Amino acid sequence: MLSKSIEKALNKQIRIEAESSQIYLAMAVWAEVKGLEGISNFMYDHSDEEREHMLKLIKFVNERGGHAHISELNAPNVEFSSFKAVFENLLEHEISVSQSINELVHISLQEKDYATHNFIQWYVAEQIEEEATARTILDKVNMIGDDKGGLYLFDRDIQQLNINSAADNLE
Ligand SMILES: [Fe+2]
Ligand SMILES: [Fe+2]
Repeated sequence: MLSKSIEKALNKQIRIEAESSQIYLAMAVWAEVKGLEGISNFMYDHSDEEREHMLKLIKFVNERGGHAHISELNAPNVEFSSFKAVFENLLEHEISVSQSINELVHISLQEKDYATHNFIQWYVAEQIEEEATARTILDKVNMIGDDKGGLYLFDRDIQQLNINSAADNLE
């Protein structure tokens, strides 16, 4: 059985994952209308992954006698000054999600809820992977700068970029 404070913290994370999914969906749309098909596909996939993260949390909360809360969401950014700004946003967002996951680890230990602590390790591993991917991409973006040819190649190559999440190996 989940304690009230753990349930509240997990529900907060459910909202964050849902908002993440919306954030990447907005980025996918932005890229799509700009003709950046590769970036757009990458973001659509990423948006789906965040929804999976949300669903995994929902199932966990409900299975442990809690009640997953489906809440209103903050509206995502829909305008970006450049494709570089999109990826800077992505890294920033993933860092904030990692902080939230760390907070969950902390609360689960405080409450001696080892089942939740164990469950949340999947997210710890996932965040390491996602931050690393975001940094790798941003390095490439910084190399490209304003080079249009570079952007063309980047948009083509990102389609092959596989987000091999550490989490996949844990499933
Ligand atoms: Fe996530
Ligand atoms: Fe993420």
